[in-house]
Amino acid sequence: MTAVEHKFTGRGSLTEGFGLSTEPLPLKPYYSREFFELEQKMIFRRAWLYVCRAEELPEPGSFVVKTIHGTGVEALITHTKAGRIQAYYNSCPHRGSIVVKESAGKASRFSCPYHRWTFENTGELLGVPDEENFFQSMDKKNCGLAKIATEVWEGWVFINLSPEPEVGLKEYLGPAKDYLSGILYRGAHNPVVYTAVLDSNWKTASDAFIESYHIPHIHKKTIGTTFASRLNPYSRLIGARPLGIHRTISLFGNPEYAIDPDARVEALGSMGQEGKSVIAADVSEDAVRFRAHPAINPDRSEHWSMDINQIFPHLHIDTGPGSFWTHQFWPIDEKTCFYEVRFYIEEARTIQERFLQELFICRVGEVVLEDLSNLQFTQRGIENSGTGVMHLQDSEVAIRHALTQVLKWTRAQTVKEALA
Ligand code: FES
Ligand SMILES: [Fe+2]
Repeated sequence: MTAVEHKFTGRGSLTEGFGLSTEPLPLKPYYSREFFELEQKMIFRRAWLYVCRAEELPEPGSFVVKTIHGTGVEALITHTKAGRIQAYYNSCPHRGSIVVKESAGKASRFSCPYHRWTFENTGELLGVPDEENFFQSMDKKNCGLAKIATEVWEGWVFINLSPEPEVGLKEYLGPAKDYLSGILYRGAHNPVVYTAVLDSNWKTASDAFIESYHIPHIHKKTIGTTFASRLNPYSRLIGARPLGIHRTISLFGNPEYAIDPDARVEALGSMGQEGKSVIAADVSEDAVRFRAHPAINPDRSEHWSMDINQIFPHLHIDTGPGSFWTHQFWPIDEKTCFYEVRFYIEEARTIQERFLQELFICRVGEVVLEDLSNLQFTQRGIENSGTGVMHLQDSEVAIRHALTQVLKWTRAQTVKEALA
């Protein structure tokens, strides 16, 4: 018996390893308006929320505007001339107009289009046309752009919509911070971005990307033979770890996978490559360094395909053999969410690399579409449930852990309590 077969025999072992119960879990959080409002208040107004990579703000003056779906907030995120990354409400302190209409750009100052109040990119109010006609009670010092708490960790920019966050980002990330520390985020400056508004609760969508049980069925034609095999026909996880309120799972990869000779494009893309994985974007020295990080294939399994690191509440950082990509799920209402996937790709040095990258994007994109097109049916069924509960198996441990955290945050009086 091989080592990996031995791992697959431990029924319930991952879930018990997380210290979780194996009971059915409620479906109401996936469609209830009341629960959506509770999540907004207790999670999205208290947790640190990932908004962008620092590479989107490469130099002083760079800015991006991000819609914080579900909250009504639009964040203007700048690389200030003081050198730090800071988010503001994109709302003019005069009468509330949007200050910046562009979604990204470069500016040392911002000028509101309505009556032309002007602000430094550090937020201070600089100029007010016909200032003399205002009143002495107006103190310009208090009329700068309103700040949103902002912290950056290894290039990941987070905001917190609480006026005074109870904990800093490092404490919030907890064990995930050390676990993921030092990863070489290759191609972080060069994302390929896809977005969609989905007819599903944000958790229904997120859950579809943190379990492997569906792979042999939903993805039978695309990755059914790379993420499952005769050794592991149901694509059971090869590992999973809680990281405080966050978590990581590792998916199976079939080392016996052989390219179908009729799959001409795939065969062409893999010519000269040692690894045959269709999700390997490159096999360069940097890719080898990337893979050497202890959080990438943490069990050093020869049956590994990829890891999914889920940062609470709604960010997935996925790492594969040569690169990383992210998924993010913003609640819009209880039955709708905004989805964004970003594949990060180094500039290709050869035509072969470029071809392989395109193949990677198309293949993973195809797999993502299979997941997305299934979501409406999941959501409809959830709302139509006769039992009100779901029964999760061991390879769905990340869903159980994620929902457990969501439930805990909606009940916890303080963030410290939610993190405990
Ligand atoms: S609303 Fe911005 S200057 Fe008046
Ligand atoms: Fe999937």
